[in-house]
Amino acid sequence: MLQSILSVLLILTLETQDRVVEGLEHRAYDYTKYHTMDEISEWMNMMIKDHPDVVTSIIYGNTYEKRNITLLKIGLSSTEKKKMIWMDCGIHAREWIAPAFCQHFVKEILGSYKTNPKISEMLKHLDLYITPVLNMDGYIYSWKDNTTRLWRKTRSPGTDNCTCFGTDLNRNFYANWGMVGISRDCCSEIYNGPSPLSEPEAKSVTDFLSDNRDNILCFLTIHSYGQLILLPYGHPNITAPNEDELMKVGLAAAEAIKAVHGMDYTVGTPPKVLYPNSGSSRDFARLIGIPFSFTFELRDKGQHGFKLPEDQIQPTCEEAYQGALSIITYVHDKTFVRAAATSIAATLWSVCLALWLSSTI
Ligand SMILES: *[C@@H]1O[C@H](CO)[C@@H](O)[C@H](O)[C@H]1NC(C)=O
Ligand SMILES: *[C@@H]1O[C@H](CO)[C@@H](O)[C@H](O)[C@H]1NC(C)=O
Ligand SMILES: *[C@@H]1O[C@H](CO)[C@@H](O)[C@H](O)[C@H]1NC(C)=O
Ligand SMILES: *[C@@H]1O[C@H](CO)[C@@H](O)[C@H](O)[C@H]1NC(C)=O
Ligand SMILES: [Zn+2]
Repeated sequence: MLQSILSVLLILTLETQDRVVEGLEHRAYDYTKYHTMDEISEWMNMMIKDHPDVVTSIIYGNTYEKRNITLLKIGLSSTEKKKMIWMDCGIHAREWIAPAFCQHFVKEILGSYKTNPKISEMLKHLDLYITPVLNMDGYIYSWKDNTTRLWRKTRSPGTDNCTCFGTDLNRNFYANWGMVGISRDCCSEIYNGPSPLSEPEAKSVTDFLSDNRDNILCFLTIHSYGQLILLPYGHPNITAPNEDELMKVGLAAAEAIKAVHGMDYTVGTPPKVLYPNSGSSRDFARLIGIPFSFTFELRDKGQHGFKLPEDQIQPTCEEAYQGALSIITYVHDKTFVRAAATSIAATLWSVCLALWLSSTI
């Protein structure tokens, strides 16, 4: 008797300790600091381990330096066919707030889906595919020392006689490649590469998007800085067929952002609110038929630029989370809520029709 009480106590103690250890792990990860690639990779493993029912990972390609590009897939299992939401961070190495945002976003979703019925409903219809750091080689290089902190591009060497390194990944996609807002000089920050998709990182994203083009509802790519929400297209003479709707959804996101800490975000196409460009992943996503495609340029407006102080990580992520959630909610409701209402109306209509037919015959 005493022995069994003791063993129950022992089990209880062990279980409590277990939970304390898990809790410590969570508290040990500091979302208000910038993290190295190794720390982010470990964090990804922790998310998978701590949330095995909702988080899995997929390796979908590799970088020039042969690192695995990995995304986290977040969603509740469902018997229905699900749609996909894409988010990538860290396509430009020096924009450290972007990977910090992807991590914050994952933390918030995982912390709220059990208690927030809307998030839980959305995760039954949608899987989120989140790449915390796309340009891993560049990101690691930007952490090397204070002379490399502002590295932007990939780490592939120049071709022919050009001795500089790196291609601008966001000029390397097969979307009006080479047409505007690029440089053919391999030393330039906006060098678009020797050919479209010369960079394995751009090729990996392209293949994933192309394989899933019919199921991806929304493409979000996170950058800094400038406080902008950009819509397709970067080319001034090409207009997205749903530009009005993209603008409406973008403006609603900017309003959601402003409601959090009062920050102003400007919405529009790159030629209208920034500068023209071509070969971006956002434009590629829209070109292959993904209806909602946006670039976020997070804080600030240039005071600190790419070196956004760590005390701004949390407020920046809090407001951008509401912006992203506003877009995802719109896309979800358009596809699932209004679609469901239409199908109920159609069912009612056919029931009425059947009744009318049976009453007249
Ligand atoms: C990439 O992932 C594969 C499959 O999990 C693994 O075998 C390989 O060691 C990984 N490569 C690197 C560089 O981490
Ligand atoms: C870069 O780091 C070196 C060595 O830590 C230091 O002496 C130097 O002042 C730093 N330079 C800048 C611009 O911060
Ligand atoms: C590289 O430089 C060499 C020597 O200046 C020149 O002969 C060659 O044509 C150059 N190659 C290219 C592709 O520009
Ligand atoms: C856009 O069209 C105008 C008028 O045809 C032309 O002058 C301009 O060069 C075009 N812009 C680009 C980037 O092709
Ligand atoms: Zn960028």
